[in-house]
Amino acid sequence: MTAETTQAPTTHQGILDWVNEIAQLTQPDHVHWCTGSDEEWAQLTSALEASGTFTRLNPAIKPNSFHAASDPSDVARVEDRTYICSVDEADCGPTNNWMDPHEMKDIMRGLYAGCMKGRTMYVIPFVMGHLEAEHPMFGIEVTDSAYVTVSMRVMARMGTHVLRKMEELDAAGQDFHWVPALHSVGMPLEEGQQDVAWPCNDTKYIVQFPEERMIWSFGSGYGGNALLGKKCYALRIASAMARDEGWLAEHMLILKLTSPEGVVKYVTAAFPSACGKTNLAMLEPTIPGWKVETLGDDIAWMRIGEDGRLWAVNPEYGFFGVAPGTNEHTNPNAMRTINKGNSVFTNVALTEDGDIWWEGLENTPDRATSWKGEEWTPESDELSSHPNSRYCTPIKQCDILAPEYDDPRGVPIDAILFGGRRKTTVPLVFEARDWTHGTFLGATLSSETTAAATGQVGVVRRDPMAMLPFIGYNAGHYFNHWITVGKENDAAKLPRIFYVNWFRRDEDGGFLWPGFGENSRVLKWIVERIDGQAAAVETPIGHVPTADSLDVDGLDMTQEAIEAALDVDVEEWKAELPQIQEWFEKFGEDLPAVLWTELDGLRARLGD
Ligand code: GDP
Ligand code: PGA
Ligand code: MN
Ligand code: MN
Repeated sequence: MTAETTQAPTTHQGILDWVNEIAQLTQPDHVHWCTGSDEEWAQLTSALEASGTFTRLNPAIKPNSFHAASDPSDVARVEDRTYICSVDEADCGPTNNWMDPHEMKDIMRGLYAGCMKGRTMYVIPFVMGHLEAEHPMFGIEVTDSAYVTVSMRVMARMGTHVLRKMEELDAAGQDFHWVPALHSVGMPLEEGQQDVAWPCNDTKYIVQFPEERMIWSFGSGYGGNALLGKKCYALRIASAMARDEGWLAEHMLILKLTSPEGVVKYVTAAFPSACGKTNLAMLEPTIPGWKVETLGDDIAWMRIGEDGRLWAVNPEYGFFGVAPGTNEHTNPNAMRTINKGNSVFTNVALTEDGDIWWEGLENTPDRATSWKGEEWTPESDELSSHPNSRYCTPIKQCDILAPEYDDPRGVPIDAILFGGRRKTTVPLVFEARDWTHGTFLGATLSSETTAAATGQVGVVRRDPMAMLPFIGYNAGHYFNHWITVGKENDAAKLPRIFYVNWFRRDEDGGFLWPGFGENSRVLKWIVERIDGQAAAVETPIGHVPTADSLDVDGLDMTQEAIEAALDVDVEEWKAELPQIQEWFEKFGEDLPAVLWTELDGLRARLGD
């Protein structure tokens, strides 16, 4: 027996068996059980430097931070390669890709066979949310990517302490659950074969098995496809758990807003990928006396508490933010967070002084190395950074992290915002009539596609609750779940629901609304609305601010522009009706009847 086998890495037989089974299948050269220690980080990041995946940034500028460039084909989530393999196809629904789980497993076992040859298999014990939660949400990710391992340490609570907690619970005979999450870049190395800086495979599969609460991912190293705690677990698998257990797993930021009088409100907001969650979560208000603190920028798990209110926690431990457009003006808090170091930057440009740069950042360099490894100057035709380039940085480094982040109970939510990118039609802000109408607004949310997923950019599509790529079951049933949460709970205690659009354009194609810190004016209207202070006009689509209820003091906008931002154009809305009708028809019998009633109501109010 070797030293390794006498020293079993865990006393949890189930985990050991699963890891051994995966090792048998994938044939790695080494197996490394991750501790999450600083030494391990140092060792892995050095190895990534040596293999050419990482370039260490200038420690005087960004300590302990790294640049990585992906293969140009592996830059975003691959929605067309993402599957919900429920046992019954009807449980997957019309918005997800489906394949029979047995068939999928056969295909993927074929791909996984020997796929880690020449590589190290990393075993990452992690927990989404708090280790001290009543039911900690454990997972074990097995991956052959050191890049993924390092990134997981930023994005999730992971390491030996998590494994020990599982062992403790196991030894005490307590029932707990862990999600097996298998990832491979899908590029085995033959003896003596030279590795590439970003191994991946043209064949990609991102697969969720909702009944088994299991994840299999193959062929991509990109965050959303490969850091399996994030989208695959905390949204797709968790949404299926939430359906079964009566809670909500949502694609939402969480923020804390304090008024000049010291009144605190908690807000969540669901916007599709690359539509402003991270920026709103860390906003620096332009209106005097108001304060924003952040709790999360991408995912919220929400449960009804004993007090009947909806409580939210952020299951993540870091930010995986869109780099382009981030700067000292748009998001100074993100800049302060990444400038503390300990961060990974993927697909941005590298400057000559060993710093990073991207479109929209201050101090444009005279020359840089683009994300494609090519020489770049401000005159270049190509972008220096991929539009979906990302920074990956610890949430604990954020100066405005709300202390409640560390509370496993989370925070009670006062308002839920839905929103997306719409050049036309959707006003800056309006309020839903009630929870069911709010669910209708969420279910019909529309947005122009972005670079966060592969495919065409700028095409309007329905993205219900900003969850289109993340609902781990039938979206019709998911709408029903939302309706049920409203029905089974005291409406007066539930959050009020709003819809926002920072992206409406004027005739010249420019943004009507300045956005970013100025969005605090909209947040102010929302909380004043909740407290019964802000006036609104009732329109066919919901309650829109009156011209003078929105605080525009010191705002550099003409009255006409403000009115244009708030305008509800009945003809534009009538044009939405057939699209919503077509969208709803997709779900057949699975669409809750009350949503048809809501559509009828909207149609009648529009006089259609
Ligand atoms: P997330 O992916 O939903 O977290 O979105 P981000 O907050 O990372 O923003 C995505 C992109 O939208 C970035 O390029 C931002 O600069 C841009 N953005 C965010 N908020 C606003 C806003 O209020 N107005 C405008 N015009 N752009 C915004
Ligand atoms: P985002 O997160 O929502 O911040 O873009 C990544 C994603 O959704 O792919
Ligand atoms: Mn997201
Ligand atoms: Mn984000």
